Amino acid sequence: MERDAATTDWTTYYTRGQGRPARDLVIHGAAAAPAPGHAVDLGCGDGAETAWLLANGWRVTAVDRTPEAMPLVHANAATALGEDPGARLTTVVADLAQARVPEADLVLASASLPFVPEHEFESMWLRIRAAVADGGVLAVNLFGVNDSWAHPETGIANMTFHDRAAVEALFEGLEIVELTEVEHDGPSGAGPKHWHRFDVIARG
Ligand SMILES: C[S@@+](CC[C@H](N)C(=O)[O-])C[C@H]1O[C@@H](n2cnc3c(N)ncnc32)[C@H](O)[C@@H]1O
Repeated sequence: MERDAATTDWTTYYTRGQGRPARDLVIHGAAAAPAPGHAVDLGCGDGAETAWLLANGWRVTAVDRTPEAMPLVHANAATALGEDPGARLTTVVADLAQARVPEADLVLASASLPFVPEHEFESMWLRIRAAVADGGVLAVNLFGVNDSWAHPETGIANMTFHDRAAVEALFEGLEIVELTEVEHDGPSGAGPKHWHRFDVIARG
């Protein structure tokens, strides 16, 4: 394995995604919540999802380990709102493996949790589950075991992958609103690969 999730530089990824629309995960996740309230965007990256949430009436705490993400999060939020988001947006530079996750009506993690290593995943997951308010929504992507990045020859070190049974176990006690398993060959920032992903929206 040549790449390591712990040392990946995400800035090129942000540049390539400039102007991208918010992902379906946040749109469907917000639709599953009773009303806009407080959302946490874990591994927010450039903040396209945070901007969408702010424009749709949510307050957002956006968390990412990459400091370079935060000016983009603020700029995308200001563009979406036509003004500075002020106190409705809090940005936190932190590693999800240790970060405090504040209670939220929507806990969103779009393409971020798989980049936390296996030995830190479980404790992070307990903090994420505990943060979902009563009746709140958890909307996350997880990567499957058939993903190219899970395999020694084509993989990235220090990532976490799940099979379907393990994914279902993570959501025990929550009401599953959507659970989609996707497998396809396609491009990535690191070249063509096989994608295996779970998109899960669940209600507490
Ligand atoms: C593939 S990008 C996804 C960004 C955005 N959520 C999206 O959907 O495009 C992964 C993001 O997770 C962040 N990330 C990866 N590992 C992390 C960790 N351990 N703690 C906090 N953020 C992390 C990266 O800095 C990057 O912004």
